[in-house]
Amino acid sequence: MADTLTTLIGEDLIAERVQELAAEIDRDYAGMGEVVLIGVLKGSFVFLADLARRLETPHRIEFIAVSSYGDRESKDPGAVRLMLDVRHDIGGHHVLIVEDIVDTGHTLAYLVRLLNARRPASLRTCTLLRKPDRTVVDVPIDYLGFDIPDVWVVGYGLDFAERYRTLPRICAMKPPE
Ligand code: IMP
Ligand code: MG
Repeated sequence: MADTLTTLIGEDLIAERVQELAAEIDRDYAGMGEVVLIGVLKGSFVFLADLARRLETPHRIEFIAVSSYGDRESKDPGAVRLMLDVRHDIGGHHVLIVEDIVDTGHTLAYLVRLLNARRPASLRTCTLLRKPDRTVVDVPIDYLGFDIPDVWVVGYGLDFAERYRTLPRICAMKPPE
């Protein structure tokens, strides 16, 4: 049986919000020189591509990857492992982490700790989505696209078992009963 997909955020609304976020970032980084955008693989690749192309701020693109979604049943559900690091030293650079979604907050908290230890000139965070009902680790989000309810979402980079990443809209997904 097929998964049930219900549109939560349509293409136009995403595009509009991404443009607003880019404008906000441009305002905040005006006159600061280059910013290093670090996309968190894999989920952020679509958002990062759209956001970066809307930015007027000069920027470089880097990617980082962490262990995929933690095991809710494991002894240490917040454990996050670095799978792929950035290619360049970020020391002294302005850094903006670009995430697809903040769920418990463990992943973003881990990345902020990891990257802050490398002494960037500044470190900020941007996420397209957040599930406020599921937050367990408080991590500052400087740029937020949308708050969403506690449902599994796919599309616009987000997956369920590697499927649906290239859907152009964000959908709530229910697996077959
Ligand atoms: P956190 O560490 O619990 O905040 O989880 C963050 C990561 O879990 C995100 O970067 C996603 O990769 C994944 N994730 C959380 N919720 C969803 C969802 O609804 N759909 C797809 N991926 C999700
Ligand atoms: Mg992610």
